[in-house]
Amino acid sequence: MSNAIEIKSLSIKFNKKIILDNINLQIKENSITAIIGPNGSGKTTFIRAILGLQPKYSGQVKIFNYISPDYPKGLIGYLPQKNVYNLKFPSKVIDIVVMGRYPQIGFFKLPSKNDIKIAEKCLDRVGILSYVNDYFQDLSAGLKQRVLIARALAVEPKLLIFDEPSTGLDIISQQEFYNLLIDLKKEGLTIVVVTHDIGIISKYVDSIIGLNKKIHFYGTPEDSMTQKNLENIFGKDFSFIIHDKNCETCKYGNTSL
Ligand SMILES: Nc1ncnc2c1ncn2[C@@H]1O[C@H](COP(=O)(O)OP(=O)(O)OP(=O)(O)O)[C@@H](O)[C@H]1O
Ligand SMILES: [Mg+2]
Repeated sequence: MSNAIEIKSLSIKFNKKIILDNINLQIKENSITAIIGPNGSGKTTFIRAILGLQPKYSGQVKIFNYISPDYPKGLIGYLPQKNVYNLKFPSKVIDIVVMGRYPQIGFFKLPSKNDIKIAEKCLDRVGILSYVNDYFQDLSAGLKQRVLIARALAVEPKLLIFDEPSTGLDIISQQEFYNLLIDLKKEGLTIVVVTHDIGIISKYVDSIIGLNKKIHFYGTPEDSMTQKNLENIFGKDFSFIIHDKNCETCKYGNTSL
């Protein structure tokens, strides 16, 4: 299997402060990779470098062999960490999701019936097709997040990058979200997800990257989610408990929480 992402000697400084220090990384095509690390550890900066949005850095980033930032349209679907859709006028859910089609449609052109059909399909996939004609501004934080996930899917990308996608989602919706990732992987997508859901990701992802200025670990959940590794990036006071079917206090039975 070939690489979806190849990063060589990536370093980024802000105001002379090193934020990312000589990152070398390869992510296989058709995999799900989680990036974890404490606040301020450089996760969003790293994602922005992958997306070609980070103006200055040293090193090289390649996505499916295209060198950043010269990617073909619609290669990557992206859900940013911060809700950047501070809309000044009321927008319907369908219009927000159709925005994901703009790389294909082209700006200043109208979406086709097919674009709308794809947008509706993506809303259905995240379980909120019934809100298609509602106003985005009126939705709860969790529903807004699902709309933005649908928008990233509507790009029909080869690589999906989510920066803290489960913010605002309740535990059941979080699990639905990760199950959706598994379905998308079955369809051939490569997925990178920045997350703080360290208690639940192990059963959904293929690999976990521990990032804090450098890559501290990168491997299968089994190999990487050790107390020692997690202490390394989160600090000595970190304590990690896996709830499994033997956990007597865990009301979700055999679900890892
Ligand atoms: N444009 C910028 N100019 C200056 N410093 C920046 C800029 N963007 C990020 N930083 C700094 O880079 C560091 C890493 O920030 P980043 O947002 O990548 O962290 P993060 O791991 O995504 O954190 P969080 O978990 O809080 O989202 C922080 O110290 C931040 O203040
Ligand atoms: Mg961030």
